Amino acid sequence: MTTFSVISGAEVQHALQDRHQEVVALVDAAYQAHSGGDSVNPPSYFLRFPDRPSSRIIALPASIGGEVGVDGLKWISSFPENVAAGIPRASAVLILNDHDTGYPFACLESSIISATRTAAMATLGAEWLSRGRRRPRRVGFFGTGLIARYVHTFLTGTGWSFDEVGVHDLSADSATGFCGYLDRSGASGRVTVHDDPEQLIRSSDMVVFATIAGEPHVSDRSWFEHNPLVLHVSLRDLAPEIVLSSTNVVDDVEHCLKANTSPHLAEQLTGNRDFVLGTLDDVMGGRVTIPPDRPVVFSPFGLGVLDLAVGKYVYDRVAANGGLHVVDDFFHEMHRYG
Ligand SMILES: NC(=O)c1ccc[n+]([C@@H]2O[C@H](COP(=O)([O-])OP(=O)(O)OC[C@H]3O[C@@H](n4cnc5c(N)ncnc54)[C@H](O)[C@@H]3O)[C@@H](O)[C@H]2O)c1
Repeated sequence: MTTFSVISGAEVQHALQDRHQEVVALVDAAYQAHSGGDSVNPPSYFLRFPDRPSSRIIALPASIGGEVGVDGLKWISSFPENVAAGIPRASAVLILNDHDTGYPFACLESSIISATRTAAMATLGAEWLSRGRRRPRRVGFFGTGLIARYVHTFLTGTGWSFDEVGVHDLSADSATGFCGYLDRSGASGRVTVHDDPEQLIRSSDMVVFATIAGEPHVSDRSWFEHNPLVLHVSLRDLAPEIVLSSTNVVDDVEHCLKANTSPHLAEQLTGNRDFVLGTLDDVMGGRVTIPPDRPVVFSPFGLGVLDLAVGKYVYDRVAANGGLHVVDDFFHEMHRYG
């Protein structure tokens, strides 16, 4: 394959529209391929800037085998100050490389792919980690930006419904914007904005953390005494004490216990990883069982293989519809001796 296509955000969104269940299945299959050794997923590389300490750009190189059979790289920026300027915090591209030649064959707008695979993995976690206990009817969103919106859309798009939806954000504008989204979504559930984070957690059976906190800001174990399911998507909200008094499930142990995530801080505190029950794939494969009498914290680091799986799916759909924008002569020096 020596053509090169560019796929816009509008095309990505169109290809993923109303495909929630399918995307969750793709993410499930990607996790299984990863656990089965049919992937290469080295650590993410964090590019940070001395002059812009709150910002970063992360490179996630990966390769996935099986039916997807593609290599690639997600290159995703996080510039939190963007939000005040009226544009989303994260922006990204995904490059897909051909399995046989290594040639890059597509560049896709990837903030949507990234948010989609993140929401799908949270939904998959919610599905599996709530088995054997009462299915959560009260959900609480702690941090209500774009990722929270995608997680809610994926949960409801895969059949979840709620009696109550709690909302908490440091920014009143974000909380209001999220409530507006909830209203327009037509989803069930009485919406309550909690100024007090304790109230949000105590009144939720399932808590979705999607803040941009760089270090823990929730440390009182008593807030979790009703044993909620915690989808710890933003990874750095919980003090190690909460992690250590919970059942912990991750997506990949090596990836997740890095970069000062809450599980990484817990490892630094205890000097071991005994507090990690296993991976989501261990749970799905029945190799570990979730005890019913503790909070369950799912901390998914987010693997590059998930972006590849969703990105290749988008590429295939756009190609099948005849909508690929091929950049003519992108690869131009094709004859070795001219
Ligand atoms: N694990 C993964 O694979 C994965 C993938 C994508 C994004 N994420 C993470 O999800 C998080 C959310 O991303 P986003 O695009 O929605 O960001 P965003 O900037 O759109 O929204 C974040 C929201 O969190 C709020 N917030 C920040 N600190 C808070 C605090 N201490 N308490 C309450 N609210 C707080 C902000 O006011 C903002 O409204 C980021 O941390 C991002 O890194 C994780």
